[in-house]
Amino acid sequence: MEDELLGSAVSRREILRLLASAPALLLGVPDLSGQRNLSGYWVLLMPTGDGNYRKSFLHLDQAGNTVSGSVMFFGRELPISNGSFKDGKLHFDVVVHFRQEAHTIAYNGLLEGGRIAMRVDFPNRPQVSGTAERTTRAATLPPKPLPLPALHHVPDNGLVRTPPMGWNSWNKFAGRVNDAVVRAAADAVVASGMHRAGYEYINIDDTWQGPRDRHGNITSNRKFPNMKALADYVHSKGLKIGIYSGPGPETCAGYTGSYGHEQQDARTYAEWGFDYLKYDWCSAARIYPNADLRPVYQKMGDALLKVRRPIVYSLCEYGMGQVWTWGSEVGGNLWRTTGDINDTWKRMDQIGFRQFAIAHYTKPGHWNDPDMLEVGNGGMTADEYRTHMSLWCLLAAPLLAGNDLASMSEETKSILMNREVIAIDQDRAAIPVSLVGSLGSTVVAARRLADGSHAIGLFNRNDRLEEVGIEWAAIGLEGKRLHARDLWKHQRVVVSGTHYSAKVPAHGVVLLRVRA
Ligand code: GLA
Repeated sequence: MEDELLGSAVSRREILRLLASAPALLLGVPDLSGQRNLSGYWVLLMPTGDGNYRKSFLHLDQAGNTVSGSVMFFGRELPISNGSFKDGKLHFDVVVHFRQEAHTIAYNGLLEGGRIAMRVDFPNRPQVSGTAERTTRAATLPPKPLPLPALHHVPDNGLVRTPPMGWNSWNKFAGRVNDAVVRAAADAVVASGMHRAGYEYINIDDTWQGPRDRHGNITSNRKFPNMKALADYVHSKGLKIGIYSGPGPETCAGYTGSYGHEQQDARTYAEWGFDYLKYDWCSAARIYPNADLRPVYQKMGDALLKVRRPIVYSLCEYGMGQVWTWGSEVGGNLWRTTGDINDTWKRMDQIGFRQFAIAHYTKPGHWNDPDMLEVGNGGMTADEYRTHMSLWCLLAAPLLAGNDLASMSEETKSILMNREVIAIDQDRAAIPVSLVGSLGSTVVAARRLADGSHAIGLFNRNDRLEEVGIEWAAIGLEGKRLHARDLWKHQRVVVSGTHYSAKVPAHGVVLLRVRA
């Protein structure tokens, strides 16, 4: 959601429409540029560099040289401060709170011929310029909710009997994803051996979209010259390819969403050759109440089944409305259970260890999704990444790598491609993991596997080394002769008939597979 800081992206077509309406608006308002009073609504358009424009609205109120009001994007309205207008020069600041920190965005504009040429300084980002035009209040409001289908059971598409594995562009590349990045990811999945280890889907996340054409068909933007050719390329490597949209008019990064074009978009994805869709709530929140999450997601679930191509359906609505209780009913193969992950121990720990309570909602073809992997992105230690991977595998979470596959260290490879650990994730029986004891600063989790063995994670969430242990009686293994293997050290471990304990490094894990 980082791009929320920037406002939403719109197409050239919409800009032309907005500009075309400007003279009429100007006629209706008394000599705005002459009086030099900025009061009213403005639409601010800033080029994104891929053929789209970011759109936000300004609501300005000028009294003398002082300007107050707000900036609006994604239904959020943020007050402006330090507002002034003098000699045609406008200045104001907006404070946004992002990841619990306050950031000031500085706006500097010059009124010329009824338009404001605007420079915007975002914290830690290159300066952006754009143009603000007069608009109406009506233009700032979200579109109407669409009629929604009656609830019914969407038949299972039969896909992803084990959790999907692959790569997604967002965690590493965000808005910098393009055709070359996706091809390089496909090349690297094969060259690194990840494909042989089970990674299959190459998923394009947000910011691929361009405008709709005159028939309403979605197009890709300049970064993606030919989606069909790209899908063919990925398929030629023996892989599958995924795409991203959402039920609102705009995606989270402000690009064109599927609002009002659900069936048409599903058809387009199938024609291009896509095998996976991540469908992200975002701007739908401005249109539909949370009570409508289920029919809105069902609408796309139905649409995907109507096109004659198997397409994995990934719901992304951050766990709202207890999606794990109905995600499979609307045709979902996986559903996000939380807000966004990021590449920090704090966030991964917070998300990952919260999942045990809902682990039993997962079943073949329908998986809880605690978000994509951050392994290899550099913000955590190797121990922390091993904890991340171990936890996701015990949870039977989708394994979607989120790093740059073309430049992986040996250590990153050893984590992402640990086949003994992946085997837990992909275990056919999909028996839910459960906690042994309570969730605390140390955690013991166990999962029975198809062959009758047990995967056991001994986790240490503390900042210092701790001894973490399990009594075999807790999982019915007491008094048996046990064969145990450490899945990170790849070696046999000698265990007693009653219990096992190990010294686990700070934020680390010991992951065992134990057979009686
Ligand atoms: C949301 C999702 C992320 C990613 C971004 C893209 O934040 O939760 O996974 O898809 O949108 O804008």
